[in-house]
Order: sequence, then C-alpha cells, then structure tokens
Amino acid sequence: MAAQRPSHICTPVQSTPALCYTTAARVMSHPPSSSAFALRLPKVELHAHLSGSINRAILHDIWLQKKTALPSFDLQDPLLAIPPDKVDYDLETFFPLFSSYIYKLCSDLESIKYSTFAVLESFREDNVVHLELRTTPRAIPHEAISKSLYVETVLACIDEHNARPGNRMRTGLILSVDRRNTLVEAEEVISLALKFRSKGVLGVDLCGDPAKGDVRIFSGAFARAKASGLKITLHFAEAPVSSSNEELRTLLSWQPDRLGHVIHVNEQLKREIVGQRIGVELCLSCNVHAKMITGSFGDHHFGWWSKSGVGVALSTDDVGVFCSPLSQEYSLAIEHFSLSVDDVQSLCSGAVDIIFGDEEEKERLRKIYEEWDGWTEI
Ligand code: IMP
Ligand code: ZN
Repeated sequence: MAAQRPSHICTPVQSTPALCYTTAARVMSHPPSSSAFALRLPKVELHAHLSGSINRAILHDIWLQKKTALPSFDLQDPLLAIPPDKVDYDLETFFPLFSSYIYKLCSDLESIKYSTFAVLESFREDNVVHLELRTTPRAIPHEAISKSLYVETVLACIDEHNARPGNRMRTGLILSVDRRNTLVEAEEVISLALKFRSKGVLGVDLCGDPAKGDVRIFSGAFARAKASGLKITLHFAEAPVSSSNEELRTLLSWQPDRLGHVIHVNEQLKREIVGQRIGVELCLSCNVHAKMITGSFGDHHFGWWSKSGVGVALSTDDVGVFCSPLSQEYSLAIEHFSLSVDDVQSLCSGAVDIIFGDEEEKERLRKIYEEWDGWTEI
C-alpha cells in the first residue's frame, strides 16, 4: 500500500516520543533527558493489543487506499473518526472504536498484513527488544478469512519481521478470548493457540469490555489452556464493574501467569498475587486517559506494585489510541515516581522474568541489558 502518510499525526513510529504530546504543558511535564534515555533503553513490551496499536496514520493509509479503489466506500476518514489530538476516552467510548470502526477498516488480508507490519516496526523503532503482541482471532466471512487464517496471517508477518536482518526485536503472539465470546468461541481460541503453538503463539489472554460477559463460563476453556501448558494472562480488576470478589476469585482460580491492569484489588488479593509471584502488566497512559484510575500519573498503582517484589512490565495497551509509545511510558514512570537508574534496571529485569518467552529468550534479554552502555545517562 503506497498511500502518503500525513506527517503531523501522532505516531509511535518516531524518534522523539515527546512529540506525541499536543500541548505545551504536557511537553514541559516531560523533560527531554528522561525521554531520550527511555527511548534508547532496550525495552520489553508484554501488553499490547494488535488492533489498538495501529496508529492513525496507518489507519488513514488503509482508508485512503480503499477509498481510492472504491469511491463509494462509506467509512469515515480515521483522521475524523479518531481525531489525532484525541487521547481521552472512557470505557463507553473506547471499546466501540474496535467493533464500529477499526475492524471495518482492517477487514481484508492486505490491510491486516499492512497494519501488522506497521505495528511491529513502530515497536522496533521505539527500541523494544521483546514484544508479546496479543490479538483476538477474527473471522471475516465476506473475505473468506477464517479465525485460523487470521492467526496464520499475523504469525506470518511476525515470522518475517523476526527474521529481518538487523532486527533485534523478537515478537511472540498471545491469542485473546473476548469477554463477549461464548464458551464455544473461547474453546476455539484455546484450540487455535495450541494449533499454532509451534509457530509462535505463547499463551492466551482474556480481554474486552469489562462491563460485558460472565467470566465464569470460560473456566473450562482456561483450565484446558493451563493443562496444555499454555501461558495465561488476564485483564484483571480493570473497572469496578469487573472487580467483584467472585469474579476476581474465579480469575485467580485459573492460575494465571500474569495479570493486566490490576487496579481495583483489595489488600488481601494484593497479598495473594504477590505471594503467588504473578507478574503484572501496567499501562500508565491508558489508565489515565481512559479514566480507569482516579487522579493522574503520580496516583497510578505502579507506585505500589513497583515496590511489591513481583515482576512489573510497563506496557502500552493501545498505543494507536493513547499515543504513548513504550519509551514514553518509561519516561513517565521515571518522572512521576522519581526512578533512579537502579530502579529502572530492576524494573527491566523484573519484566524479563515474567515474559512468556523461553529461557533462551530470557538469557538473550539479560545479555542485552548487561551489555547496554546507557545506564549512566538518565
Ligand atoms: P485485537 O484483539 O487485536 O483485535 O485488539 C482489539 C481488542 O483488544 C478490542 O476489541 C478489545 O477486546 C481488546 N482491548 C483493547 N484494549 C483493551 C483494554 O484496555 N481492556 C480490555 N480489552 C482491551
Ligand atoms: Zn489490554
């Protein structure tokens, strides 16, 4: 796809992440020293949704290509549908972005491949060295795309990207069950994860609108995933509506390896999570911009979890929507929690400990950090 990309659009593919900020006040709260350090820092990204990581410029490219080929194509330009300077959402306005817009745009093999490569490149350019990308298997009947073909297509892009000369980022795939799925659909996701395990699927996830669904129906499916040796990560206590004691107890009974967000948890549950050494994936900008936490960056529960002893992976969640690449998430954490170089070192090493990748990959990452010569430059 050779459409022109407007240069002014907030995009994770950039060497100056602070540009993502649109107001002077935001730029000033983000001094260049920590952002330059955070950009150079080799990083591990463990919580990124493929469709939420596609930036507006790439969505616009796809839209333009479709509009040019078919002038009657009636989807709104992404630059209007998801305005480039809009990063503030709430759970009611955020989730429809996917079902009502992005899925309608990325609706054939060409656009899925184009957007997947663009997402991979944007993480690589942000100096991510290990990426665990997640996606919900999606069938597109009018294009004869089955869920299996969708997964195969994304995996083929990852495979090709991993093999590119000079690319030191290694990517694995996690398949998501959506909370709106039926048990049959959830079982299908687990079966696809097992089918494609040897091709780069590392584990499974539970995601989707926290206001929807009843997680209890998935217990059997996740039990099968666990018994088959698949790694499990779950969106956990993301909103008050999905944080009842019964729901959180059900999710913990699936013996997850990692938990995402972990916002509305009481002291007892925190102790159990720490006791079971479950890794956590924390997303500062997403939680602030989608109003999932009260207050701002300095109030984020990263402050608590970073001292808890469990592995913490700072992550972006949906960089295409919230416009904060992983380097910016590190920079925000450094500033709002006054992290020292030693703190960042422990943070990075904790994230390596909780990857779903194998021991060989952990060793590769530890070596990258050992050999990195930027530790003095915060
Ligand atoms: P996909 O799975 O690659 O299609 O990425 C988009 C999907 O990720 C959405 O439909 C949601 O189900 C899920 N998702 C993205 N962000 C969040 C989040 O913050 N919480 C829960 N689910 C999310
Ligand atoms: Zn998420």
